[in-house]
Parts: sequence; C-alpha cells; structure tokens
Amino acid sequence: MVDTLRINSGRLWGRIDELAQVGAIIGTDGCSRLALTDEDKEGRNLVFTWMEDLGMEIVIDGIGNVIGTWAGNGTDKTLPPVMTGSHIDTVRTGGRFDGNLGVLAGLEVVETLAENNISPFHPIAVGFFTGEEGARFAPDMLGSLVYVGGMSLESALDIEGIDGKRLGDELERIGYRGAAPCPGPVPKAFVELHIEQGPVLEANKTSIGAVDSVQGISWAEITIEGQSNHAGTTPMHMRHDAGFAAAQIAAFVRQLALEVGGDQVGTVGKIDLHPNLVNVVASKAVMTVDLRNTDEELLKNSESRLNEFCLSLSESEHVEITSKPLARFEPVSFAQELIDGVIKVSKSLGLSVQQMTSGAGHDAQMFARICPTSMIFVPSKDGLSHNPAEYTSQEQIMDGANVLLQLLLQLAKEQSG
Ligand code: GLV
Ligand code: MN
Ligand code: MN
Repeated sequence: MVDTLRINSGRLWGRIDELAQVGAIIGTDGCSRLALTDEDKEGRNLVFTWMEDLGMEIVIDGIGNVIGTWAGNGTDKTLPPVMTGSHIDTVRTGGRFDGNLGVLAGLEVVETLAENNISPFHPIAVGFFTGEEGARFAPDMLGSLVYVGGMSLESALDIEGIDGKRLGDELERIGYRGAAPCPGPVPKAFVELHIEQGPVLEANKTSIGAVDSVQGISWAEITIEGQSNHAGTTPMHMRHDAGFAAAQIAAFVRQLALEVGGDQVGTVGKIDLHPNLVNVVASKAVMTVDLRNTDEELLKNSESRLNEFCLSLSESEHVEITSKPLARFEPVSFAQELIDGVIKVSKSLGLSVQQMTSGAGHDAQMFARICPTSMIFVPSKDGLSHNPAEYTSQEQIMDGANVLLQLLLQLAKEQSG
C-alpha cells in the first residue's frame, strides 16, 4: 500500500499556482515576494492557513521561520520529526517554483498521508524559512542559519536591508516575530525538494537529481569613493571616477571566473552609482560580488585575487575601495545514506536519476550541520531561474514530489537512530 502511494499532482500544481498569485508580476508567471514585505506576509498567511487546514501543529520562531508538524493516529509525538521544507520568499524578479515547490510538496506529502490514514512512526514537519534568498537581507539562508544556531537571533534581527530597514522591525511589522526558541529542535533528518535552477538534468534528460553537495558562497559589498566632477571639463587623468572603477571590478570578476575555470562562477548583480547623472563623474559606487566554487581553497584564492585587484585599482584610479562581507558559506556535503536513499527511491519509481552538486544555496545546506540531510532536484526548463520565466512541468514536479513522499515515509517509519 505504502509503496504504491502517490501524491495528487493536480492539487500540488493548484497550490503552486495559488501562491504564485501573491506578488504576481503582471504579464509573467513569476512573482515578487522579497523577504518580510507585504507580499511575503500575504504568502506566509496563505501557507499558514493551508497548514492549519491540514491539522498541523504550527510554531513560529524568533526569526519568523514557520514549522508545521503533522502526526497521524499512531505517530509517536515524542520522537523528533522528519523535516522537509524550503522558502517562500523570492528575489524581486523571481519564478513561482524556487523554494515554493519544496514547501508545498511537503504539505502535499502530509495531505496524501492524512487522506490515506497512514501514520508514520515519526512526525513529519514542513517548514518555510525566513529570507532564504538574501536579496533584501543578507546573508542568504538566514532563517535556516539561525534555526541551526549558525548565527545568534540578536545579530540576525539587527541586519539592515537594501532599503535601510531593520530585519527585526520588518518581522514585527508583518506579524511573524514568533516566540519559539532559536536554535530550534534537531530533526531526525531533513530532505528538501527543489528545482535544479540550472541546465544539467534537462540536458541529460534525467528526471531526478540526487544532490550530494552545495558549492561554497562568498558575497561581498564593495564601496568605491571617488569625487564627483564636471564630465566636460575634468581631464581624464584628473578623475576619481567611481563608475569606471566599478566597471573595472565587474570586468575583473568575469575574467577571474574564466581564468580559474572549473566550477568557479562570479557575478556582479547590483551596482548603485551616485549621483547617477549623465554629466557628472560618479562620486560613489556600491556594488555586490557573488563568487562561488565547489572547492574551498579555490574559492579562497579567488577572494584574495579580487582583494588584490581592488587594492591596485584604488591606487591607479585614485579612489577609496572598501569591502564588507555579506555572506560566506563553505561547500557542504550531504549524508551518503540520504543521497543513496534518493537514488534508490527514484529507481524504484522507474525514474532516471543522477548524483549532482548544487550551484545554488539552499536551506538544506544549513540543516546538514545538525542532522542527516539531502536534496531532490527536478529539471528547470532552459536552466532558467531567478527569472519569472522559470518553469518545471507538472509531471516533473509530480515525479519529484513522489520521491519526496517515499523517502520521507521510509525515514519516518524507522526507529529513531
Ligand atoms: C540563494 O538562493 C542563492 O543561491 O543565491
Ligand atoms: Mn531556492
Ligand atoms: Mn532562489
């Protein structure tokens, strides 16, 4: 009975669509729900209601993570839950699947178990974690980082967003500053279903990715101070041009990633220029650099090369350059028994599966610090993500959610070990 149990893919697809209406970007399938905005609040309220409808016991912790726990009639509520989940915040120009899939698939698993009167030994918990994207409040994976004790609640609440707002104030404002303690209770295991957000599975015509690792992430905010002056009268050699220096750094980051090669990637995703006028040499630039690599030593080396470049640029261009770290996470390896579990379950469902690394950051990488963890990937059309056009078909999502269902069931049926 349990092996042949399947999720209801129409119901899951329907919830994904309903949540995507919150903060919908008109004329696209995407959505905009930056962490702790009114749109995030509305999305949270909707998912909260779904958790209540499923009879889950819901707690909100001090950083605004929401965890719903479900127990069947025969479940031993004193045992640690098997946990799944992800995030429902998005980047400003996000898709409807990133994060949302993992949360809603978790609810779908619970509903499937409940309607079939299946009562696993361990409770099943589904969480959505605050500010995974890091697009408004850095670092990324913030809620799960605080959950596992990687950052104190006090420091997290004091983080300033890109709009100058304090995280703790915004959390209070939207009504999601909960009372449950951080760090939170340790689950028996954590499994997250997510879209791949890259091109690998589609290119290989593979249904499921069994994620074995997540690459290291280094984010920095670089500020360049120059001097504004007249664009027509200031000789080129007399300029302190923050705009030019920012452009040089952006070009260097790309060149660096190409030279290091392998898994090294580098991105300048944000540049603010001041005063940002056609006839004024820019006095100030504030920009971000995102460097990632699966190899910690290579990542460190790229960080040093960027710092050396900024130092020599500040001398040659007569500008002041300072750098502030926004996020720094080492590469993470997942638990072999759970990677094997994803592969075994996928094969038993007749699905093609491959082991792979994750280029994106995920809440699961934080849980890997405290319990056995792994992830299930499903393909992303054209490898697109952080883009309203992000797409995964209903059938591909169904396959991933069925792998999640079977794996959670296996983990939850076992005695605590
Ligand atoms: C976070 O989700 C990231 O990988 O940028
Ligand atoms: Mn995500
Ligand atoms: Mn994302």
